[in-house]
Amino acid sequence: MAKVVIMDHPLIRHKIGYIRRSDTGTKDFRQTISEIAMLICYEATRDLPLEDVDIETPICKTTVQELKGKKLAVVPILRAGLGMVDGMLSLIPAAKVGHIGLYRDPVTIKPVEYYCKLPPDCDERDVFVVDPMLATGGSSIAAIRMLKEKGCKNIHFLCIIAAPEGLKAMQEAHPDVDIYIGAMDEKLNEDSYIVPGLGDAGDRIFGTK
Ligand code: PRP
Ligand code: URA
Repeated sequence: MAKVVIMDHPLIRHKIGYIRRSDTGTKDFRQTISEIAMLICYEATRDLPLEDVDIETPICKTTVQELKGKKLAVVPILRAGLGMVDGMLSLIPAAKVGHIGLYRDPVTIKPVEYYCKLPPDCDERDVFVVDPMLATGGSSIAAIRMLKEKGCKNIHFLCIIAAPEGLKAMQEAHPDVDIYIGAMDEKLNEDSYIVPGLGDAGDRIFGTK
């Protein structure tokens, strides 16, 4: 079974508290989602392999460590995942970016696929799938299935808030995928929204409600 890491850093806790508040407006919500994504990215890239490289400083020759020829990709699940892309790229600027379009049907709560555009060599990359919300798990499970169908093997999933139901479903569907969670919440409500959660992440990022 792959890793599940639940963040305990005080900056992440503080920032997640801020975006939960219903009086946090679109601009601050969007900015803070990006900052939290950057902080989770820092943790999710902890295991990237390094290699020794000989260099010269202005003072002498020395050996430093650099990332070992790693090819990375960030794949947001549209729409809300888009809010995490800038924060990810601020730490891994050379990553390619793919997009997977899915929305949750409001009646069935099942994911509906509408878009998939990935870097052509995605199957050779470490792929970081991002979506702020892991609720039932339907969307992230479907997105990762789509990536596996394209040959991707090294997949990591980053979210800001997860429900226990979604985490369990993800682990059952994709036991090989490392999962990084900003905060673990209590449960889903009768509409499959996360409690206490933060409401509809896409609407709050883009100001559509
Ligand atoms: C939200 C969220 C996830 C999904 C989580 O997207 O961003 O993709 O719901 O729910 P699940 O774990 O039960 O699948 P939504 O369907 O609202 O689409 P949007 O981002 O386009 O608003
Ligand atoms: N999608 C959201 O944006 N929020 C939830 O609480 C659940 C699914």
